[in-house]
Amino acid sequence: MSKRPLIWLALAVFAFAIAGAGPGFAQNENATGDTTQQPAPVETVQQNFSVVKEFRVERSLTPQAVACIECHKQETPGIFTDWARSEHADSNISCIDCHLAQPNDPDIAKQHEKYYDRPELPYGERKYFAPIATVVTPKDCSRCHPDETEQYARSKHANTIEIMWKIDPWLNDGMNSDMERKTGCFNCHGTVLKIDDQGRLDSDTWPNVGVGRVNLDGSLGSCTSCHTRHRFSTAEARRPEACDQCHLGPDHPQIEIFEESKHGTMYHAYRDEYNFDAAPGTWTPGVDYRAPTCAACHMSGAGGVMTTHDVTERLSWETQAPLTVRPSDFAAFPADTNWETERNKMKQICSQCHSDAWTDDHYDGLDNAVEEYNEVYYKPAKAMLDELYDKGLLSTEKFFDEHLEVQFYELWHHEGRRARMGVAMMAPDYAWWHGFYECKHRFNQFMEEARHLIETGEKAYVYPDFPAATGDTTRPVKIFGPQ
Ligand code: HEC
Ligand code: HEC
Ligand code: HEC
Ligand code: HEC
Ligand code: HEC
Ligand code: HEC
Ligand code: HEC
Ligand code: HEC
Repeated sequence: MSKRPLIWLALAVFAFAIAGAGPGFAQNENATGDTTQQPAPVETVQQNFSVVKEFRVERSLTPQAVACIECHKQETPGIFTDWARSEHADSNISCIDCHLAQPNDPDIAKQHEKYYDRPELPYGERKYFAPIATVVTPKDCSRCHPDETEQYARSKHANTIEIMWKIDPWLNDGMNSDMERKTGCFNCHGTVLKIDDQGRLDSDTWPNVGVGRVNLDGSLGSCTSCHTRHRFSTAEARRPEACDQCHLGPDHPQIEIFEESKHGTMYHAYRDEYNFDAAPGTWTPGVDYRAPTCAACHMSGAGGVMTTHDVTERLSWETQAPLTVRPSDFAAFPADTNWETERNKMKQICSQCHSDAWTDDHYDGLDNAVEEYNEVYYKPAKAMLDELYDKGLLSTEKFFDEHLEVQFYELWHHEGRRARMGVAMMAPDYAWWHGFYECKHRFNQFMEEARHLIETGEKAYVYPDFPAATGDTTRPVKIFGPQ
């Protein structure tokens, strides 16, 4: 990539030559394929409006950099337009700054070279050639955004593939198929990118923008999980919709919880007044927004708390785990944090809009809920499960192939999480009806079935034809080394 200094003041702005243009102005590309200026076939004046927005690129870019823009303006206008409207375009950061292949890049898009032998395309000539890579990783962004990348790299988002393979029975016992993983799990968590024999990205692993994608250059994650290309917008990431592709559903319904909370209700009622476009680091509670979004509580700076790209900051509990523990005690990926320090950071966010007593009382409620979940629901159920394994009434071979194992899983993974997180984020319906109410129900069923086995000495029924339990159980070599 070019190492030239950034030109902060863009030399010229785009000319938005559209609305109001008269017949002589319209570039009627679509109807005729002919791009010469001519009046469009007309019935009414309205139809003469250009369908293609006209952007003029007048800035000091190398001819190779201009070539990307000009050819793609024609070939992929969607990508071009998103870029043209981004902060990057305003700051003179163009396609080549992110996509230029680095020395030894394994994923050089070799087939792209052929477009430089297509004189009918804009700049389709050899002299404009530059080698490119399709994948743009956090390492590429780190040249210009080192802090965000460094914070992101230590987050659970970036490291989730390692975490999954350390603890998850679906993967380790091979209980779902590779197709189910690629289209489900890995779309949120990320794939381990591979290239095929022809040097192309392997379609089993691509396309993918999961939070913990393992890139060919060894970096982790994909910044587009929240800042979709090619806008790369801060405003987008501040909205709850940036998180809801992944944070939803029966096992981690954060978006539903948020929507139900007063904060979410206010977001819906007042979001038109929220100023999502405030400059990075200046998004101010009370001034720019009345009630927090996901990003406001978990990521954006406020008061003395700095913005962070590590979503594990500000957490004092690990409420997604079977037994709720402190983040530093989460064995698969212990956070390098102190829970009291992190809780104080989150409380400082709350205190921009609430009194300390209000916030402290909220946290008392959370601590009580965690305690009750751990002691009353999780620990007795876990003790019972262990007893069944000890007595040989449940087989230890695979998880999910016996009904009681599924019951136990859903107790902590579904309703147990909903209860804890409903309380943590102020959603009474999730705390109770989708949460503790369902926990009671599940707990009673689980215990009834378990006691029946103990009383009769009968072994649990094992599903003999568990469907699609065909997934590869080899842990990714890139993370765990050869096994
Ligand atoms: C002469 C035309 C032309 C030029 C110049 C050009 N491209 Fe392309 N590029 C294309 C076309 C055509 C495609 C394929 C689009 C499609 O599949 O519909 C493409 C595809 C791509 C892809 C996707 C490749 C993949 O494997 O998915 C990227 C990334 C890309 N171009 C970036 C660039 C960059 C960066 C530059 C400048 C260094 C550039 N292009 C210059 C025409 C061009
Ligand atoms: C700030 C960095 C950045 C800039 C600037 C940038 N891209 Fe990209 N581009 C990305 C990222 C990130 C992806 C997604 C690939 C990935 O997940 O690694 C991508 C993907 C693509 C793809 C393939 C995706 C698809 O939907 O087919 C094309 C084609 C592409 N870019 C072309 C361009 C062109 C043309 C420009 C300039 C007008 C440009 N890019 C500017 C970062 C950038
Ligand atoms: C060559 C330098 C460069 C590279 C590479 C680069 N950026 Fe940027 N980026 C900038 C500059 C300059 C700005 C505008 C000034 C600022 O806000 O810091 C910016 C702004 C941003 C913003 C804020 C936009 C807004 O709405 O306020 C985001 C988000 C962002 N970049 C993400 C990325 C991501 C993700 C990548 C990698 C895919 C990337 N950038 C690659 C230079 C770069
Ligand atoms: C819709 C997106 C999505 C899908 C699909 C998905 N997950 Fe997740 N997963 C998440 C989110 C979000 C979390 C964080 C949960 C939380 O904190 O409440 C998570 C948490 C986890 C965790 C716990 C990590 C920890 O730190 O305790 C594991 C393990 C996991 N998922 C594995 C899987 C597997 C395996 C699959 C497929 C069988 C899968 N996930 C499917 C989004 C998804
Ligand atoms: C989990 C969602 C998420 C992911 C993934 C993410 N960001 Fe952000 N990013 C945000 C949010 C939210 C903000 C807005 C912070 C604020 O309010 O100022 C932001 C802001 C930024 C900014 C503007 C400056 C700042 O710090 O406020 C840059 C630059 C940026 N991100 C770069 C990146 C890069 C590079 C990556 C990948 C390493 C990345 N982001 C991945 C959510 C995300
Ligand atoms: C592409 C999917 C995806 C998107 C988008 C996403 N996340 Fe996540 N998030 C995950 C997954 C997967 C995990 C679980 C990681 C793990 O523990 O292994 C997670 C975990 C978390 C955690 C728990 C961290 C911990 O230490 O337990 C928080 C908090 C979080 N995300 C906040 C956010 C916020 C806020 C946004 C939006 C600004 C967001 N996420 C966007 C997938 C996503
Ligand atoms: C009012 C502030 C606030 C808002 C808004 C908010 N959260 Fe939270 N979130 C919290 C608090 C507080 C906790 C519990 C923190 C602790 O462990 O001490 C939490 C916990 C979480 C967790 C559980 C992490 C774990 O492993 O235990 C995830 C995931 C999460 N939030 C994601 C989100 C997402 C996604 C959104 C938006 C849809 C969101 N949050 C909105 C304050 C908020
Ligand atoms: C940007 C301002 C802002 C921030 C930051 C904020 N809140 Fe709120 N919160 C509000 C407003 C406004 C209300 C609505 C008060 C009302 O009902 O009149 C509210 C309502 C609540 C409620 C009442 C819920 C209900 O159902 O009545 C609780 C509890 C709460 N917030 C806790 C928190 C906690 C804990 C944090 C930090 C993790 C936090 N808030 C962060 C503005 C904020």
